[in-house]
Amino acid sequence: MSLPQGKTVRVAVVGATGVAGQEFLGALREHPWFEVVSLAASARSAGKSYADSIRSESGQISWYGGGELPEAFASMVVEDAEQLDATKVDVVFTAVDAGPAKILEAQYAKTTPVISTASAYRYEDDVPLLLPGINPDHIALLKKQVETRGWKGFVAPNPNCTTVGLAITLAPLHKAFGIEAVHMVSMQAVSGAGRSPGVVALDVVDNIIPHIPKEEEKVAAETLKVLGKLKGDSVVPASFGISATCTRVAVLEGHTEAVHLKLSRAVTAEEIAAAWAEQGASVLGAGYPSAPEKLIHLSSDPFRPQVRLDRDAGDGMTTVVGRLRPDATVENGWKFVLVSHNTKMGAAKGCILMAEQLCCEGLIAAGG
Ligand SMILES: NC(=O)c1ccc[n+]([C@@H]2O[C@H](COP(=O)([O-])OP(=O)(O)OC[C@H]3O[C@@H](n4cnc5c(N)ncnc54)[C@H](OP(=O)(O)O)[C@@H]3O)[C@@H](O)[C@H]2O)c1
Repeated sequence: MSLPQGKTVRVAVVGATGVAGQEFLGALREHPWFEVVSLAASARSAGKSYADSIRSESGQISWYGGGELPEAFASMVVEDAEQLDATKVDVVFTAVDAGPAKILEAQYAKTTPVISTASAYRYEDDVPLLLPGINPDHIALLKKQVETRGWKGFVAPNPNCTTVGLAITLAPLHKAFGIEAVHMVSMQAVSGAGRSPGVVALDVVDNIIPHIPKEEEKVAAETLKVLGKLKGDSVVPASFGISATCTRVAVLEGHTEAVHLKLSRAVTAEEIAAAWAEQGASVLGAGYPSAPEKLIHLSSDPFRPQVRLDRDAGDGMTTVVGRLRPDATVENGWKFVLVSHNTKMGAAKGCILMAEQLCCEGLIAAGG
């Protein structure tokens, strides 16, 4: 699949100096459709070259996007996000905290589509939580958002990084068999906390931190919204209970989640495997540049998934599942372990895949 001959989608990355922002740059440096024309961050970084904006006091360049920092980005001057002229790009990718996102995303969306990693708008009725291959019918809400808010653009956030792997694996099971309850314990990577304030190495190395503020509430609300049904002008969330315990562990990238669930009827492991194998076919078959071959990979090795070995499956876009087995303590109970890449599918590359889909749906237009 390609965009109309000679056209590229001009992109701004806001929060470009942070962990998720740098992951955007790593994924966009050779993207066939998208060209990064603006980088923005806080007033602290504005006016500096990008290389200087991510240089620490010791002189080290804190580049997180893999390989060498591309020269094309290193010499770009970082803009103040508040001053960014969104009309000069076709889409804005935002990777800032919810506080600044609330103000900045509305400002940009007046003229331009915004794809966001932040939670600022996730819980509003006219804002879908899109996961490519999972809930494409929710895209219709974006058109409603444009109409009701009087914007030319819209805000389309991806779900929280812990929600992403969980929702991807639960969606086909809920559709095929019905889910009655979910218990989940996460073991989340330190990169998920970003650089500011981030997690201090002295606190997390040789340790597990048993609480991530607001994370469990986000996982419950967002998973139910992703799996919900579009009715009229909003999504009616799925109605089963989700009980989560979210912890931070000394892993750099990749969230591991131990999931226990009660299905609405008796099924076999083969039926679950078949539901997972078919998931995402509409996205994967459409030729989007960032789509993996498989949205879900089920391993039969009882020692997988392991975060270090499996987080980069499908270049970080495939959720790897293993240890699928019945839970004999619960009627129609099953349990499994998943690994999902928090900065790739869970943030930057997941947003880029969403933008690719919205280009093909005519909601983002190539202007360059
Ligand atoms: N890290 C992940 O795995 C992950 C996954 C999913 C979603 N997210 C979400 O992505 C967003 C960014 O997270 P992160 O981990 O990348 O955080 P981070 O490493 O701390 O980066 C924060 C970025 O926001 C910028 N910023 C801070 N205050 C700003 C302001 N007032 N105006 C404009 N820009 C401002 C910073 O710029 P300066 O350098 O100039 O301060 C920096 O570029 C958050 O909403 C987070 O929840 C992160």
